[in-house]
This record gives sequence, C-alpha cells and structure tokens, in this order.
Amino acid sequence: MTASDRSEQTRTEGVLAGLDTSAMTGFYWYLALLACIGGFLFGYDTAVIGSVLGFVPYHLSSLATGYLVAGASLGAAVGALAAGPLTDRFGRKSLLMADATIYGVGAILSAVTINAGMLLGARTLIGLAVGADSAIATAYIAEFAPAKRRGQLGIIQQWMITVGILVSYLIALVIFHLAPGAAKGADWRIILGLGAVPAVLAVALRARMPESPRWLLHQGRYADTTKALGKLGVDVSEEDARRTAEKLEAQEAKEAKQHRRIWSPGVKRALMVVCMFFVFQQITGINVPFYYGPKLLGDVFKTPGSSALDASMAGLQAAAILGAVNVIATFFAFRYIDRAGRRPLAIGGFAGMAVFMVVASVGVAFLTGAPKIAVVMVGFSLFITSFAIGVGGTGWLIQGEVFPTSVRGTAASIGASVDWLANFAVIVAFPALTAAMGLPWVMVLLAGLAVVAVAFVTRFLPETKHLTVEQVVAMFEEESGSSGRTPSVQPS
Ligand code: BGC
Repeated sequence: MTASDRSEQTRTEGVLAGLDTSAMTGFYWYLALLACIGGFLFGYDTAVIGSVLGFVPYHLSSLATGYLVAGASLGAAVGALAAGPLTDRFGRKSLLMADATIYGVGAILSAVTINAGMLLGARTLIGLAVGADSAIATAYIAEFAPAKRRGQLGIIQQWMITVGILVSYLIALVIFHLAPGAAKGADWRIILGLGAVPAVLAVALRARMPESPRWLLHQGRYADTTKALGKLGVDVSEEDARRTAEKLEAQEAKEAKQHRRIWSPGVKRALMVVCMFFVFQQITGINVPFYYGPKLLGDVFKTPGSSALDASMAGLQAAAILGAVNVIATFFAFRYIDRAGRRPLAIGGFAGMAVFMVVASVGVAFLTGAPKIAVVMVGFSLFITSFAIGVGGTGWLIQGEVFPTSVRGTAASIGASVDWLANFAVIVAFPALTAAMGLPWVMVLLAGLAVVAVAFVTRFLPETKHLTVEQVVAMFEEESGSSGRTPSVQPS
C-alpha cells in the first residue's frame, strides 16, 4: 500500500487503520525491544537466584531461604495486580519507566546488601518490577503493532525472557570461574548487581519512547496521539484522531449499553482464556527442568571429589545447555506465530510437552548412569522446545492482544498476576509432591495436565492472527454471546 493509499484509508477508516496496516520499519523492532528489556530482566532476575543461593553468607531459616527463591514470584503477582489500574490511568510509558527504575534500585540494593533482611527486601522490590513489567509489555506492543506482525513483535518478550535466563547462567559461570575464591564474597553481589545495567539502560531509552497511540486516543489526547503516530511513521491530523476516537467511543458506548458494563461477557471470556492459559503455562511444569534439571544432570559434568563450587558449576553448565535450547527454540515461535497462528502452535506445544515429559520421566524412573542422563537431557530439551514454540510466548502475546483499550492494562495485569501465582504454587508444591509421589509420577502428572491443556486450547482459544485488536475484542464478544457459533470475524 502506498503512502497516499494509506492516508486515504486513514480518512475513511480512522487513524488506527493506518497503524494496523503500516509497513514495519526498524523503529518498530527497536520499540518492541525496548518494551521487552523488562522481559530480559524477568528472565535474569528469576533465574539468577538459583546460581547464587549456595553462596549467600547470611544465616537464613528455611522459610527465609524459601522466600529468597520464591519471593520474587509472589512479589510479581502483587506488582502485576498493582500495575493494571495504574497503567490504564497514567499510561503505558510511565509504568514501563517506573518498572525499569524499580528493577535498577532492586539490583543495586541486592549488590550492596548488609544483611539478610535487606536482601529479602531487595528481592521483593525486584519481584514487584518483574510483575508490573510483565503485566504491560505485550499490551504496549499490541497497541502499536501492525496487525499482521503483532505476533512476532509480541514474541520478542518471550525471547528476551529466555535470553535473560541464559545470560544469568553464563554470567554466573564466568564470574565463578574468574574468581572462585570470592564465591561467598564479591561474586554473588556482582552477579545480582549486574541486573542494574539493563535497568539503567531501559530507564534512559524508555524515556524517549512514544506513549501508546491507542491509549492516548482513548484518553482524548489528540495532539499527543498525532505526535506518537508520527514517530511510528503514520501521518494523521488531529482532526483524523478526533474522528476515530469519536467512532471508537460510540462503538464502546453501544457495547457498554448492550451489556450495561465495560466488563462485558466478551471481556470476561477473554480474561478467562488468558488466565487459564497462564495457569496451564505454569502447572505443566516448565520451570521443573530449570530448577531440578541441573541437579539431576549435574553429575555428568562434575569430576570425582569435586567441591561445592564445582558441583554448582556443573549444575550451571547443565542449566546453560537447557537455557540455550530455550533461546534457540523460541526462534520458531517468532517465525511461525503470524503464519501458522496462535492455536496450532499452542496445541502442538502442549502436546509436545506431554510426550517429552513422559520420555524424561521414563529416563528418571528406569535408567541409570549415562543412558539416564542422555534420555533425561533429550526429554527435557524437547519438552522445553515444545514450550518455547507454542506455549511461553503465546501466553504473553494473547495477554496483550485480547482486551479492549479501556481495560487492557487492568485485565492484562490480572492475567499476569495469575501466571505468577501459579508459578509460586508450583515452586511450593513441587517438593512436597515429589516427596509424596516420587519424581517420575510427578512428571507423569505434569504430562497429564499438558493433555488437559490441549483440550482447553482446542475448545476455548480462538485464532487471533492477522486481526486488528479491535476485531479480536469483537470476536470474543461474539463467542461469548453464542459459544459454539463460528464467529463472523475471521483471520485473513
Ligand atoms: C514463563 C516463565 C518461564 C519462562 C521460560 C515464561 O513464559 O512465564 O515461568 O520460566 O517462560 O522460558
């Protein structure tokens, strides 16, 4: 489409049509990357604690140790919930800036901590930032992305999460290798503190990002909308913006009148789908190989008579291999999310997770020595690959794209909060379940849950590829009115 076609379309269909069909420039990628720096820190900060846990020199009760590991997830659930209403009121950009600042402060406080209490406080702060940022990153992206590339831009969040996890292992490996004598001294502080570097960068760069044009339009800030759209290469007049806003408002008022509330049946259905998807994303056990894989696989890497540091390094190497598989496999999600669509990737992803978790459980239950290591490693790697292609990014993407602008922040934040609560529940329940049933049966249980997830996605997740976010919202509204009826809004 030429520039003049686009401006004609803008006049007749509104300014959002210009945005939905705009050509992707480097600036769009840059902006998505900026929105996802928080995703990198999400991965880095949640994974890093496992690497340093053995070297924090404070005396910690088992409750405090548990909190040190799981507290970030709990903090994230709270941070996510708090972020929603704030971002709907103050904007996406302000929230993304505030998150980056909290990330930075949390990392610096972790590095200079003088006692256990301060460390636990700093981890709580980081948790709040992780939660708040994860609540809003893909929603910000969904609000500017051209419809046909929204999937790819949203998957960058998952990609950054996986890169953050991998980098946390690599940094720990390098630092422990360079200064093995300082493992309980400066090393763990440096490893935790390095999280401040991307955070400071994010504060500096996010300060210059445009506010979300859809949010500005919704706020009636037409001059600012025009400016934000201009930065995205869509030239519109204030009058165009006003006309579009009036059209959208009339549409929303009609829908609200029809349902007598903003939280219409369609919004509630979308929220149910996102929350359930997130519950399945977590309770099917993605974090099990990351938390327990290194312990199971560490033996193959360590030499006889090795020290605690050697054992930890061996575990880190195994974790780094799984982390690298995760990063590489996420490329396929990036490549196919807008071609194949969300549904096939999610169905295939959960199905693959079920199969390969069973493979790994067979290795754990029946094999020993090298064959055990090989089967568990292959099983876990393919399990992670399935998750990375169809489940991880898909969850964060749909969380950003299925809600109307008026409640997108709040609804997306409820979804994120549910993800973090489920994450916390798995961390707490897993050791108890393993003690009660044995690891292989727990793994079979996780595989069973992945089968249930396949059924859930097949029944409830509509295809949203190529639709504008307004069409996605209309589709959920239609589906909620008559479940089972084929919606008239179809992906192109
Ligand atoms: C999940 C995290 C998980 C990560 C692994 C994310 O989508 O929310 O819990 O650790 O993927 O790549």
